[in-house]
Amino acid sequence: MTINPNKALWEKGDFTRIAESMRESGEALVTTLGITDGLDVLDLGCGDGTTALPAARLGANVLGVDIASNLVEAGNARARSLGLSNCSFHEGDASDLSELEDDSFDLVVSIFGAMFAPRPFDVAKEVVRVTRPGGRIVMGNWIPNDPTLVAQILKISSSYSPPPPDGFVSPMTWGVEDNVIERFAGAGVPEEKISFERDTYTFNFPGAPSELVAAFRTYYGPTMNTFEAAAANGREADLQAELDDLFNSQNASPSEDATSIPATFLRITVAVCARHNGNATAQRLDHTRRSTSTGRALSPPPHSITLPIHPCGANSRSTSATVRAPAGRAGGRGFESRRARSLHICSAADRTGA
Ligand SMILES: C[S@@+](CC[C@H](N)C(=O)[O-])C[C@H]1O[C@@H](n2cnc3c(N)ncnc32)[C@H](O)[C@@H]1O
Repeated sequence: MTINPNKALWEKGDFTRIAESMRESGEALVTTLGITDGLDVLDLGCGDGTTALPAARLGANVLGVDIASNLVEAGNARARSLGLSNCSFHEGDASDLSELEDDSFDLVVSIFGAMFAPRPFDVAKEVVRVTRPGGRIVMGNWIPNDPTLVAQILKISSSYSPPPPDGFVSPMTWGVEDNVIERFAGAGVPEEKISFERDTYTFNFPGAPSELVAAFRTYYGPTMNTFEAAAANGREADLQAELDDLFNSQNASPSEDATSIPATFLRITVAVCARHNGNATAQRLDHTRRSTSTGRALSPPPHSITLPIHPCGANSRSTSATVRAPAGRAGGRGFESRRARSLHICSAADRTGA
């Protein structure tokens, strides 16, 4: 049995426990997206729906795609409990959206999601390909070396973890404007169609900062891995102390029993026009599973199809496995079951995910 480390990282622990501290910022961000009734929205790396569910509440038809099966399940449970039939969650890899046809969405959103997928150039091509001409892509990405929380967690974590393997591309490179421009240029999008701004997400937690650190240590895959690496070197207490100091120093809450930590991120908006999509489509003509239909992507895919779920350049090898996706439909799209032909191993490649 071969493990996909990207998937294993995010299925580790329970990210929903961290996501709970990000709900208010998620909702606030969604109100700025210009969501209108009936808009077709793809939320990539959606987790348990911090942005997907508010978008659906505003009337959009939302498909959430995430690599972690437990988060997909949690998202669907939240959608059911909110009575939202216009939002569903499915397993998939942002590096390969071959189940989705070209020009399927008015808006593709990925808030701290697709940045964690391997092969960033493929991610850019895929998000452009599935966006309709006239549509938009909005990404939120953490910024390397930023003084606020998430980049600082990463900085501390790196000093307790083994070096990444050769060829590893840090997710944080999505927070560098030149990289973003280069990746979307590879998908046919000219620089003038990309805009950047600094924005803020606030982690709100009903407990002291050290309790939020404890939540990261217990439930957040990347931090769990860092503590495991630190423990192997007898440095767990040092890591705990550094994170406690960080969370305390960044806490803006006036109450000792509450935590409110703002973190800066890079907000990227890409305006997709026909020319970009044409380019991206041309690059996919050799795609073996590409539909010959020129219609919309709303018809269900075959019951069993081949989906390479973890293509990764570094230290990779292939094997076969079957992954199950929940049956169901989202805004008319159906994912039933899928066969993963290529699971790739990237050793510690994903451990530095912030
Ligand atoms: C930091 S969480 C953010 C989740 C969500 N966007 C939110 O705001 O709460 C990162 C998410 O990206 C997902 N993810 C990581 N690698 C992925 C990939 N290759 N394809 C799709 N999702 C991925 C993880 O499973 C996780 O849900």
